[in-house]
Amino acid sequence: MAVIPIAQAAASARDLQHYMRPGTLQLAALPPLSLYVHLPWCLKKCPYCDFNSHEQPAALPEARYIDALLADVEAALPLVWGRQIHSIFIGGGTPSLFAPESIARLLSDLRARLKLAADCEITLEANPGTFERDRFKAFRAAGVTRLSVGVQSFNDAHLRALGRVHDGAQAVAAVEEAALAFETFNLDLMYALPGQTLAQLETDVTQAMALAPPHLSIYHLTIEPNTYFAKFPPAIPHEDLAYAMLDRITEMTAAHGMDRYEISAYAKPGHRCWHNVNYWQFGDYLGVGAGAHSKLSFAHRVVRQVRFRDPKLYMDNALAGHAIAQDEEVARNELAFEFMLNALRLRDGFALQDFTDRTGLPLSAIDRPLREAQAKGLVERDFARVKPTERGFDFLSDLQELFLGD
Ligand SMILES: C[S@@+](CC[C@H](N)C(=O)[O-])C[C@H]1O[C@@H](n2cnc3c(N)ncnc32)[C@H](O)[C@@H]1O
Ligand code: SF4
Repeated sequence: MAVIPIAQAAASARDLQHYMRPGTLQLAALPPLSLYVHLPWCLKKCPYCDFNSHEQPAALPEARYIDALLADVEAALPLVWGRQIHSIFIGGGTPSLFAPESIARLLSDLRARLKLAADCEITLEANPGTFERDRFKAFRAAGVTRLSVGVQSFNDAHLRALGRVHDGAQAVAAVEEAALAFETFNLDLMYALPGQTLAQLETDVTQAMALAPPHLSIYHLTIEPNTYFAKFPPAIPHEDLAYAMLDRITEMTAAHGMDRYEISAYAKPGHRCWHNVNYWQFGDYLGVGAGAHSKLSFAHRVVRQVRFRDPKLYMDNALAGHAIAQDEEVARNELAFEFMLNALRLRDGFALQDFTDRTGLPLSAIDRPLREAQAKGLVERDFARVKPTERGFDFLSDLQELFLGD
C-alpha cells in the first residue's frame, strides 16, 4: 500500500475536522456509500455528448491514470473511514478502452484500501466499438459484475447520424457477449433521434427485447449546450412524437416483464441498478477521476466535491495529493430540492424517514410543498411514503420545482 505523504495526510485531517464541525443539520445516521470512478477517454467524441470525455491520445496513459485514481482514493480515505462500499461504477468516457489487466489492478488495489460489501455491485461501461471476443470475459475475471453496453440504436443510419464508432451488428455482438460473460447487464438506448420515426423506434426496442437485457436505460436525446449538435442542430422529432415514443417504450418493455422503476430505467425483477438507486435515494458517493462529483454526508452537513476536470491536470494534482478542484456544503435551503431532484425520479418515491435521515431536516421543512403537490395530483402519500402519481411522473420538473428553497 502506498504511503500517504505527511502534508497530504495533514490536509485530509484538516478537511475532516472542517466537515465534522457543528452545524444546524442533524443527520441521525449516514446513508449507504458508493464509489464512482471516471475514466475520461473515448475512441472518438460523439457530437451530442457533454460528458467529461475526450478523444484518446496516441498512447493512453493507463498506468499513470490508475496511479492517480489510487492516490485520489487514499487522500479521501479519512472522509469515509470505516464505511462500507456497496457499489462501484466505472463510467466515462469509455472505460472498456482500458485493458482488462488495468481494470484488474484498479479493482484489487481498491479492495486493499476500502471495505467492499460481500455482494458489492461493480459496473463497467462499455462501447460496442471497443468490443473484442474474450475482452468482456476478462473484465468479468477482473471482478466486474455488471456490464453497461452503450448501444444507443441498432439502426446503422441513426448510428452514423449520432457519430457512433460502431454499427448495429457490432452492437448485437457486444450485447450477446455481455449476456454470456455477465449474470446481469444493462443496455443503453436513446430515442427521438435525428429523423427517427415511431416505427423505427419500435424496431430498435424490438431488437433490444430480443436480446433479453435484464436492465435497459432509455434516454431522450437531448441537445446539450457546447456540443457539436448545439452548434449544428440536427432535425429531431417533435415533442408530441417523442411522448408517443416514450409510451411505446414503456408498453413494449412491460410486455417483456420489465418494470419502469425510474424515469429512464427499466428492469426485470432483481436487476435494478443498485448504484443508481443509491444516487436516487440520496445516498452518498465518493467520485474519483477527472471531473468526478462526490456527495458525502457528515453528522451536521452534506458536502459536494468536484475533481479537476482536465485529465492531465487531474493526474498531476491527484498524484500530488490534491485532486479536489471545488468543494462546498449544500445550503440548508437547497437540501429539500436536491433530495427531490433524485427521489421523485423513482416510481416508488421515497420513505418519509429517509427524507429526515438523508437531509437532516425535519419533515415540517417540506410540509407546504408536499400538500401543494398532493392538491395538484402530482404525488400520493400515506403515513410512511410519498410516490409520484402518473401525472407527477409526466410533469416531473414542475413537481420538483415545488420544493425549491426560498
Ligand atoms: C457516458 S455514456 C457511457 C457509455 C459509452 N461512453 C457509450 O457512449 O457507449 C452514458 C450514456 O449516456 C447517454 N447519453 C449521452 N449523451 C446523451 C444525450 N445528449 N442525450 C441523451 N442521452 C445521452 C447514452 O445513452 C450513453 O450510453
Ligand atoms: S462514447 Fe459515450 S462518453 Fe464517449 S463521447 Fe460518445 S457518448 Fe460520450
